[in-house]
Amino acid sequence: MLEITDLAGGYGHGPVIHGVDLRVERGETVALLGPNGAGKSTLLAALSGVLPMRSGSVRVDGRELIDQPSHEIVRHGMVQVPEGRRMFAPLSVRDNLRLGAVRLAARSGAGGGERERFDFVYTLFPRLAERRTQLTGTLSGGEQQMVAIGRALMSRPRVLLLDEPFLGLAPLVVEEIRSALDALRASGLTMVLVEQKLDIALPFTQRAYVLVKGRVALTEPSERLAQRPHLSQLYFDLAKEPAA
Ligand SMILES: Nc1ncnc2c1ncn2[C@@H]1O[C@H](COP(=O)(O)OP(=O)(O)O)[C@@H](O)[C@H]1O
Ligand SMILES: [Mg+2]
Repeated sequence: MLEITDLAGGYGHGPVIHGVDLRVERGETVALLGPNGAGKSTLLAALSGVLPMRSGSVRVDGRELIDQPSHEIVRHGMVQVPEGRRMFAPLSVRDNLRLGAVRLAARSGAGGGERERFDFVYTLFPRLAERRTQLTGTLSGGEQQMVAIGRALMSRPRVLLLDEPFLGLAPLVVEEIRSALDALRASGLTMVLVEQKLDIALPFTQRAYVLVKGRVALTEPSERLAQRPHLSQLYFDLAKEPAA
């Protein structure tokens, strides 16, 4: 479904990520782990087409996207929920969601289906239905994260890239968002979960990639990785190993 080969990229002062190979099968949920500053968000930016410098290959369902503009990548079904949510605070929940559907309209001539997407998002996050006319800037952090995920879902993605969706949220709302993501996984949606915390990401995913200093330092089934000893030192230990 998603096939990344020898991906490199950065912001203009030299590459931040180097030679990344990563595959995600259809319906799979994969964790992209690593310490702060490892290059996880940079990797997602390269996938979404918003990174100034990038090279290598990014294929979704066989189609090469490395040199495509970001709207074309969205059109092809790969959508990102950015770190820190980035929402339009003075817009209502409904209008923020509708911005996601603008991309839907730009996709295939399949008649939009905006109403159906609103229903889908409001069923997944009933709180957003209650607050549909409220300004997004007045919502709690957790509710804003729901809007960010909902907005990405409005374009009916085939691959959803989530950048630390639980960051800074209270445990109860983390549970709420996690169960929504569980429902999405059960529906067969392909997902990449970027996360720093192993204890959040490993139970939720099938396989994990660990990024250290811009390189994939480890790939392993999440269940096996979770059983490794000294897990709290994993990033530290991987950073000590010479690059392969
Ligand atoms: N907009 C930017 N411009 C220049 N450098 C950046 C930018 N964003 C991140 N970086 C640098 O890229 C490296 C990786 O950062 P990032 O991808 O945000 O890591 P992570 O998401 O894993 O915490 C860091 O050294 C960071 O300083
Ligand atoms: Mg990041």
